[in-house]
Amino acid sequence: MRIQIINGPNLNLLGKREPTIYGNQGFESYLDHLRDAYPDVEINYYQSNIEGEMINKIHEVGFSYDGIILNAGAYTHTSVALLDAIKAVETPVVEVHISNVHQREAFRHKSMISAGCKGVICGFGLNSYRLALEGFIRP
Ligand code: DQA
Repeated sequence: MRIQIINGPNLNLLGKREPTIYGNQGFESYLDHLRDAYPDVEINYYQSNIEGEMINKIHEVGFSYDGIILNAGAYTHTSVALLDAIKAVETPVVEVHISNVHQREAFRHKSMISAGCKGVICGFGLNSYRLALEGFIRP
């Protein structure tokens, strides 16, 4: 099984960025832990702060991978282009968020991309990614 994780804007700063919301762990070290826990799954990781680059990555993997785990960061709340990209490909996409966006500011309650996604997981910290992976492994 081949899974692509895509992290969007500002998620390169995990571990340093607003730690009371997003925690103290950087994504690379979490990824090591995830790969160790799922040795039979090929887990590829991509991060970009640029919307178009995220769309290019969805196009690149979206006809051959088994799943995409997407944390689109703030583009979640604004991007029709990401929604269209998700709908354009065959690979199912699970939307994830580290924080529980529904406990936060009202502008984070609306997702532009959920309608194109297989499911949504939010609020479990970095474990949100593992739960999304479980969703692909044990559907
Ligand atoms: C986030 C939530 C978004 O509202 C925010 O813009 C992010 C991170 C999360 O993982 O909790 O950048 O997607």
